[in-house]
Amino acid sequence: MTTKSNFPITADVHNKAEQPKKSSLATLTGLLPFLAPYRNQFILAGIALLVAAGSTLALPYAFKQMIDLGFGNASTAASKNVAHVDLYFLALFGVACVLALATAARFYMVSWLGERVTADIRSAVYRHVVTQSPQFFETTQTGEVLSRLTTDTTLIQAVIGTSISMALRNTLLFIGGLIMLFVTSIKLSSIIIILLACVVFPIVIFGRRVRQLSRDSQDRIADASAMAGEILNAMPTVQAFTHEKIEASRFSVSVESAFQTAMRRIRSRSLLTVIAILLIFGAIVFVLWLGAHAVIQGTMTGGDLSQFILYAAISAGAIGALSEVMGEGQRAAGATERLLELLAAQSPIQSLAQPSPLPARTANGAALTLSDVSFHYPSRPLTAAVSQLSLDIKPGETVAVVGPSGAGKTTLFQLLLRFYDPQQGSIKLDGIDIKQLDLHTLRDAIGIVPQDTVIFSADAMENIRYGRANATDAEVIAAAKMAAAHEFIEKLPEGYQSFLGERGVRLSGGQRQRIAIARALLKNPALLLLDEATSALDAESERLVQTALEAAMINRTTIIIAHRLATVQRADRIIVLENGHIVETGTHASLVALGGIYANLAALQFNVLH
Ligand SMILES: Nc1ncnc2c1ncn2[C@@H]1O[C@H](COP(=O)(O)OP(=O)(O)OP(=O)(O)O)[C@@H](O)[C@H]1O
Ligand SMILES: [Mg+2]
Repeated sequence: MTTKSNFPITADVHNKAEQPKKSSLATLTGLLPFLAPYRNQFILAGIALLVAAGSTLALPYAFKQMIDLGFGNASTAASKNVAHVDLYFLALFGVACVLALATAARFYMVSWLGERVTADIRSAVYRHVVTQSPQFFETTQTGEVLSRLTTDTTLIQAVIGTSISMALRNTLLFIGGLIMLFVTSIKLSSIIIILLACVVFPIVIFGRRVRQLSRDSQDRIADASAMAGEILNAMPTVQAFTHEKIEASRFSVSVESAFQTAMRRIRSRSLLTVIAILLIFGAIVFVLWLGAHAVIQGTMTGGDLSQFILYAAISAGAIGALSEVMGEGQRAAGATERLLELLAAQSPIQSLAQPSPLPARTANGAALTLSDVSFHYPSRPLTAAVSQLSLDIKPGETVAVVGPSGAGKTTLFQLLLRFYDPQQGSIKLDGIDIKQLDLHTLRDAIGIVPQDTVIFSADAMENIRYGRANATDAEVIAAAKMAAAHEFIEKLPEGYQSFLGERGVRLSGGQRQRIAIARALLKNPALLLLDEATSALDAESERLVQTALEAAMINRTTIIIAHRLATVQRADRIIVLENGHIVETGTHASLVALGGIYANLAALQFNVLH
């Protein structure tokens, strides 16, 4: 009658963030919207559950009939006796058949529901999380989101897939068993209820403690694997600094601590097992002993006694299962709360309900106007990353942005892509405030080669195609040629079908960058943003990419962040940023003549170059 074997894994799955929260079971009602579509399946599961509980409760009665009428009544004629035995055995088997079918049906329906609803929740949460703004990912660790998607949903799966039906089944069994106990023998029932109360409560309370300990031990394991995850992602750095031994022993310490916590749990659990078995069996043996005396004195039949024992076992098992289910439910409530929180997170960057359309693309590319834009990152309210920036860029213009590290160059791109909204001022694309545009319309018009190139674990073809999902192979190859990537891709073992490794580890930095450029060019955007797109290239490749980019810049507006003046010189206009301010604007020649920051930078670089 134990329920534990039904969910061995989930009973031990815990989540670190869960610990401080003790959520009330009422939180689980938050799951209702996910359950609503499957009302019919729920009703079917409920019917199966009722039938199964009914037949479980009928079994002891069938037993009693079999014993009393089949075996017990020795005075009846032998032939009648045999007929009785046959009949009751048949009836007993019949009840067992119903029980088997109904239990299997319940298991099937309820597990189906658990899996289905969990899959729905996972998708819904993921779908929601991917629309969040960068601000969300600055404050929420990806590891946490992952654990919510896996661990928390698994807990919920346990609740829907097993716990709810367990709770219902055991409540039914408990109430039914209790009624049948009293029907069988009021005196023995009263005794056993008092005994069970004395026995079950200490076990339940002690059981809580054990659960708490097992949660702790899961937390320790989560700590260890979080640490391992970070280190494994940084192996080259670890080895370059010869930190292998230190890291290995750090992990050992973490694993040891998990082991110690696990041992405390195991010790408590062993103790609990001894106490539980002794107490429960003690109580049962005691009542059996009383019952045996009653049978000897003739106040009870043997069948009554066996019926009584079976009902007692059913009721006791139901209580145990219920306490287990309560704990499970509470943890799932915590998990639900966190998932609902995640689902409720509203990205501060939203498209308007009725966004303005973007005017048809002009032959020259997009016009861009920044008026008095000031912005600070939400996590740094006191330091402006960009302040009072005003800028007018004509269609087809190529603007270079230069400035020292931390000047706010990348931030400017983030604002253009509307990853953040500036606290002050406005940004207009083709005359329309980007806040009025649909986010996808805005971002579809922009192609970006970011400072840190991202390569997905896929082949070269798919990585470039990320720029435009419906591009043909020929278009991908054309973009690769334009980005001076074709040649090296051709030389890869399987050409465009070569797998580039996780995070593109099988490519050099410059190769990764050219893939990223090809990706942006494939998109054929009206506005092209290049964030140090050629920083990882050697002089020869840079010259190649430079030529390619110049071709690519035709018929579109381009903003290029660059440290190399060779790149910058060709721009129509150069903007020098410092501490979020535009400090100088002009052409290469005019800025050199000005003798300011740019002239300094130029002098440094050209001294090297010449
Ligand atoms: N997500 C962020 N949250 C808080 N502050 C940030 C964030 N990103 C950048 N900053 C800060 O904003 C300022 C501008 O950063 P930005 O990345 O725009 O510099 P940059 O000009 O691109 O520098 P680099 O040439 O080194 O790439 C820096 O002081 C930086 O520390
Ligand atoms: Mg930058």
